[in-house]
Amino acid sequence: MRIIILLAAIAAASISCSRQESISAITGRVFELASIQYTAMDACLDEGRCPKCTDEEGNLETSDIGWWCSGFYPGSLWYIYEYTADEAIRELADRHTIRLEPLRRQHTDHDIGFQINCSYGNALRVTGDEKYRQQIIDCAHRLCWRFNPGAGVIRSWDFLRNDWRYPVIIDNMMNLELLTNAHRMCGVDSLKAIAVQHAQTTLKNHFREDWTSWHLLDYDVSNGQVRYRETVQGYAHESAWARGQAWALYGYTMMYRETSLPEFLEAAENIGRMLTERLPEDGIPYWDFDDPDIPEALRDASAGAIMASAFVELSTLTEDRRLSRDFLATARKQIRTLASDEYLAEPGTNGCFILKHSTGNLPGGTEIDVPLTYADYYFLEALVRHSKLI
Ligand code: GLY
Repeated sequence: MRIIILLAAIAAASISCSRQESISAITGRVFELASIQYTAMDACLDEGRCPKCTDEEGNLETSDIGWWCSGFYPGSLWYIYEYTADEAIRELADRHTIRLEPLRRQHTDHDIGFQINCSYGNALRVTGDEKYRQQIIDCAHRLCWRFNPGAGVIRSWDFLRNDWRYPVIIDNMMNLELLTNAHRMCGVDSLKAIAVQHAQTTLKNHFREDWTSWHLLDYDVSNGQVRYRETVQGYAHESAWARGQAWALYGYTMMYRETSLPEFLEAAENIGRMLTERLPEDGIPYWDFDDPDIPEALRDASAGAIMASAFVELSTLTEDRRLSRDFLATARKQIRTLASDEYLAEPGTNGCFILKHSTGNLPGGTEIDVPLTYADYYFLEALVRHSKLI
């Protein structure tokens, strides 16, 4: 009798497995939707405007090119082109990339890394067209102006609040890829050295014992001491703001790929371990891991998408086979959840974005339960990365 029950259970499990949509089928479905949505989005954008999120009525809200997210729309278009090889998408991607050319002269903050690497960086990576190259190198040098050797970090924001003198946020790890990319192109060693120094200083100061990180550290540049630690966009200063944890995971995974320094791999593995232990069953984090309203608290699809992309890459870098399996399984779970009806938009809805339910800045009262350009960007990146796994 026991054997019959066991066989029936195995048969039921294999039927349910065979019914599960493969990640490659999900990828095809999402890129079909992405082509429709992102082509329609272009028609909704006035000259010089970039997609940002949606307003309370669900209509597209836009920004100018100075907004830190201006590189994500062209970046997503490059991923769509990479996957579909559709020349009409390439034309759109090129047009929305070169619109960011003035950023090389415009006053910017540390986010010039996001803005230029996601747009021009992907343009060069996908097409090999040299016309994109100089902008990457020039903007990387511009980012270096923000580095202070006394503090050993690149300054994030110029505006000062709460007695800040030299604020550095964990998000800044993401901007380092512009420097390592430009270093590969032009060979100027200081570009890579500054990226490594920033990542090492951040590793020393920004993490708690449990591998969660604060959002913002304020430095005293005269002696490199941390004046204080805060979490501006999270639930509380001592809480684990989900997107900050996602930036940390992605940042150290990327810096290990770029430098082969073992301390960065170890950091990424530790952050990844902490996340796999703390993520909810479906893999998409609540906007802050410590919000006391969990499980009623809002989710953040953007943090889920950033983590998914980082976990796919980290699964290929770690030499610990069990960790690699866990990280890939987590990424796949996140991809499946994001591709479900709960998160994936219907064509023609959601302000032409792909994903629903991100949380931009809850304490600031902005971008709450909306689509966001970077949620879409990192979701598409996760799918493209997954499609290249062997
Ligand atoms: N870099 C800003 C954010 O993650 O909201």
